[in-house]
Amino acid sequence: MLEDMEKCRNTAIIVAAGSGNRLGSDIPKQFLKLNGREILSYSVKSFQNHPDVDALVIVTSAEYFEHVSASYPDCHVVIGGSTRQESVTNGMQAITDGTELVLVHDAARPLVSHDIISECLEKLMHFDGVAPAIKPTDSMIMINGEDFDPLERSSLRIVQTPQCFHADTLNKAHNSGVVDTDEMGLVRRAVPSARLGFAEGSPANMKVTRALDLEILQLVLNAGT
Ligand code: CTP
Ligand code: MG
Repeated sequence: MLEDMEKCRNTAIIVAAGSGNRLGSDIPKQFLKLNGREILSYSVKSFQNHPDVDALVIVTSAEYFEHVSASYPDCHVVIGGSTRQESVTNGMQAITDGTELVLVHDAARPLVSHDIISECLEKLMHFDGVAPAIKPTDSMIMINGEDFDPLERSSLRIVQTPQCFHADTLNKAHNSGVVDTDEMGLVRRAVPSARLGFAEGSPANMKVTRALDLEILQLVLNAGT
């Protein structure tokens, strides 16, 4: 795959440079194992198996660079930064000039499905950026000092990854100096004219953040086997 980077129209960037502070494990969560395979390998496989994804860039920390390069020889591996956005920026620098679509995915989200990737790519025919999203099921509030405001749940969404864009839109956002926690937020603020849409996400496309998430993922995997 690496030698074909020149012809890669659609590139997935998997960000795996975080340290997983909220989980508190010695090993960053993307390198913990589920059913004997490290979490990062699940999303790598899903993007590699998708016929419309031509190349993969994995962004990881200097400490794990050797490990990731050796474990995923078909991927382009680069070193990340101290924030997720810096890591994505470093990944963007590794994509080739001819790249049309960029799919930014969290390594900590192992169960992204073929259908989610497909729907995001299809919707990019009509939008500049698309991400999977799901409806919250709990009541939602906004804390306001000692008080709070109830929020109208039906108009809220939980945004997942892959967050997918035409490369020129994402490049423009990254060069703007705007800082945000994810690409949809960044592009919304940095490129207000961008048309952004959403695909149907899935509760199974969850992100490992806390210890219980690992147990839930294990149950989801067991149910699928
Ligand atoms: N990430 C990254 N570079 C960073 C920070 C995060 O590549 N400097 C990646 C993580 O590896 C993860 C994804 O971004 O795959 C989502 O971030 P998050 O869930 O916040 O992971 P961590 O930052 O590792 O966890 P925490 O915030 O609990 O420390
Ligand atoms: Mg984080």
